[in-house]
Amino acid sequence: MTTRENIVLVGPGRAGCSLARGLTRAGHRLAAIVGGSPENRRAVAAALGDVPVVPHAAALGMASLVIIAVPDDRLVDVATALAEGTPAAPTTLAFHVCGAKGRSVLDPLAARGARTAAWHPLRSLPVRDLGPSGLDGALVAIESDPADLPRLESLARAVNGRPASLDGRRRDTYHAGAAAAGNGILAVFDLGMRALMRAGIPEELARRALATLAEGAVANAGRTGPSAALTGPVVRGDAETVAAHIRALRRDLGDADAAFYAALSEALVRVAAARPDGAKASSVRRVLNEPGNS
Ligand SMILES: NC(=O)c1ccc[n+]([C@@H]2O[C@H](COP(=O)([O-])OP(=O)(O)OC[C@H]3O[C@@H](n4cnc5c(N)ncnc54)[C@H](OP(=O)(O)O)[C@@H]3O)[C@@H](O)[C@H]2O)c1
Repeated sequence: MTTRENIVLVGPGRAGCSLARGLTRAGHRLAAIVGGSPENRRAVAAALGDVPVVPHAAALGMASLVIIAVPDDRLVDVATALAEGTPAAPTTLAFHVCGAKGRSVLDPLAARGARTAAWHPLRSLPVRDLGPSGLDGALVAIESDPADLPRLESLARAVNGRPASLDGRRRDTYHAGAAAAGNGILAVFDLGMRALMRAGIPEELARRALATLAEGAVANAGRTGPSAALTGPVVRGDAETVAAHIRALRRDLGDADAAFYAALSEALVRVAAARPDGAKASSVRRVLNEPGNS
């Protein structure tokens, strides 16, 4: 640990408590929390121990590090409320942990002398403490002044995250990528489940079987990248099988699912193009371009 931070946590929810707990495990000090409803106090105390609750206006003046982990739609109001209080010392750093919004949402704090950043842990934080494994090697995407990067990277490593600098002009692109991999994959999983169940496989078995299949594909993609991990009819260039799939889905599940599968197949042709044998997959485009197959 380089410097021991004196932390004020604004928003003692799932993300905030997880990070604050992880940082105190790493030797930093949690000085106070801001916000949190009375009905959640017991859960917060269970996660963080007996920490004083202070008003928004006190936060900037008493912290070396302000972690803002409020719901995304409260960020603007919270930044304004924090900025109405005591000014920050020149080394005070305030960051928020929202993936969808940039560092500029904290401009009111910068105007009060704080250094500001966006520090987004790319993983689900479902409870108020992640345990000793912390972020478990997850990416922490950082948007900051370059001078603050080493400090922010060190905080990420302290909770077992892997820091990387994010180009703030591409934040929406970054967040869309995360949503595609983290959420979009579930639309594909849902299509898979309904198709198996329509073919007579019991629901729970379908769920478990597809999870095993998908976990294998995702683990391989994590090791080698998606194009090398690709298997199945598209990468084999088996256009007739893809056409049969589209017809069957249209008959058994409807037009929307058939069109979704066709769009997935088209996307897989593009994924396959990065392989040395990628040209085989392009023959699938022929059937996708036939009337009724897209
Ligand atoms: N959870 C995740 O998986 C995850 C992962 C990465 C990033 N994030 C980011 O973390 C942030 C918080 O998300 P979360 O999932 O932790 O939400 P959450 O569990 O609902 O926690 C939000 C916290 O903010 C408090 N709060 C609400 N309004 C406030 C205000 N005006 N001032 C101070 N505190 C206030 C809430 O208090 P009460 O609820 O007690 O009223 C609660 O303690 C978001 O920006 C989210 O995008 C979340």
